[in-house]
Amino acid sequence: MARRRCVYEGREKDLFEGPGPGLLVQHFKDAAWVRRPRKVGVIDGKGVINNRISAYLMTRLTEIRVPTNFVRCLNMREQLIHEVEVLPVEVVVRNIAAGEFAEKFELTEGTVLPRSIIEFYLRSEDITDPLVSEEHMTAFGWASTHDIDDMVHLSMRVNDFMTGLFTGVGIRLVDFSLTFGRLYHEDDMRLVVADEISPDRCRLWDARTNEPMDKDRFARDLDNVVEGYREVATRLGILSELNNLSEAPGR
Ligand code: CDP
Repeated sequence: MARRRCVYEGREKDLFEGPGPGLLVQHFKDAAWVRRPRKVGVIDGKGVINNRISAYLMTRLTEIRVPTNFVRCLNMREQLIHEVEVLPVEVVVRNIAAGEFAEKFELTEGTVLPRSIIEFYLRSEDITDPLVSEEHMTAFGWASTHDIDDMVHLSMRVNDFMTGLFTGVGIRLVDFSLTFGRLYHEDDMRLVVADEISPDRCRLWDARTNEPMDKDRFARDLDNVVEGYREVATRLGILSELNNLSEAPGR
């Protein structure tokens, strides 16, 4: 069978032409990359787990009417998505101080914030993603005030929903980042949650021990990296489905 055309090669995911107009296939790789400290590597099995966790979370969000660009899983490493125009800013929602944020504001890591804090970062390839304000976004045309209102509103809904979901399975949702895209349908356009929601994009701590179960294990040179991801899937009750699926043909 002819291979699909790759339309975007990312560090951790690739995008291929989909089976119809406006559709793409998102392929999750095992490659791992963190900006701070700069580190690249491979986490065996990560792509399979992230594909499943992200599909699960996006589906649950759709059920509560948070729009996403996820359509359905195709196999262990691939999912069908709607093509969107990705906004050049990312949203980070923080519930608990961690990482550089904790250092910057001289907070002990683990301090519960007085309320959830929403930040915007410019997506960039070469420079460390800078923190940006509403002024930067509207002045440079990265997002309108209406887009910003939508992103804040949707991010808070995602945060409330995921905080509850993870609390129920003994996990603290410390912080996470979301990518938004413009989904066009005939004359209509709406902002939707795009890309992925997975332990690559969230800080998830065990509620009892505060042990990280996410990409920080890789960033901080801790052991049992993929086991952390696997434990998140187990607690969400989706690991048995992973074991029943067969591996997609390798790329
Ligand atoms: O929190 P700190 O300032 O140390 O770091 P960050 O890189 O801004 O991370 C905040 C949250 O955004 C974490 O949950 C990361 O997993 C997530 N993030 C992401 O998903 N993609 C990036 N390129 C950077 C951060």
